[in-house]
Amino acid sequence: MGNFESLITARRSTRKFNDQLLSAEEVKKIIQAALLAPTSKNCKSYEFVVVEDKIMLQQLSVCKNSGSAFLAECTLAVVVLGNQQTTDIWVEDAAIAATYMQLQAEDLNIGSCWCHIRNRLLGDASSEQLIRDLLEIPDHFGVLCIIGFGYKNQERDPNDLSKLIWEKVHIGRFPPAVYVAPYNGGEGVAATSSNKL
Ligand SMILES: Cc1cc2nc3c(=O)[nH]c(=O)nc-3n(C[C@H](O)[C@H](O)[C@H](O)COP(=O)(O)O)c2cc1C
Repeated sequence: MGNFESLITARRSTRKFNDQLLSAEEVKKIIQAALLAPTSKNCKSYEFVVVEDKIMLQQLSVCKNSGSAFLAECTLAVVVLGNQQTTDIWVEDAAIAATYMQLQAEDLNIGSCWCHIRNRLLGDASSEQLIRDLLEIPDHFGVLCIIGFGYKNQERDPNDLSKLIWEKVHIGRFPPAVYVAPYNGGEGVAATSSNKL
């Protein structure tokens, strides 16, 4: 992968994987990316549980009501934790580390997908607690997500830059209209009566 723009354009969630195991070097690079992620006050509140055991992957794949089944097919899962005693913004630290891992994986042409755990349920039970019990994680660690990895067994179209929702971007202040076309190569959006930009 040549440059960062190509990387983030190409990255799509992969939920279908083949059986080929990642090499030790690839796993190392993915974990290294997580450890390179910035954290609030450099507190490094994150921790990670690396899972390759197929039986455990199967158990993780049924840890919430929906959206976790793909974990049964992946060859590597990294459970992303945050120490709630270290900082009140462990979620942000953990999310950045998770994203770094996904981008590093894409750079290696390895597929990945985020399985969200925090605030999710299996039946009426907390998925977070279920994962803590399964992996013997102390209670003061929050479980943000599990990132599943593997060699891709599906083709996905890259992101389409022409479909980006530039209207999400507000220039200078939020209301009432957006004026983003110049950043998107266009001629500019006609100001509305209430657009005082
Ligand atoms: C915070 C977050 C939570 C997500 N949770 C899940 C999930 O539980 N299960 C799942 O299959 N995908 C999950 N995803 C993947 C999204 O569905 C996916 O990123 C989104 O549809 C955009 O598709 P793309 O990644 O192919 O661009 C999650 C993504 C994020 C960023």
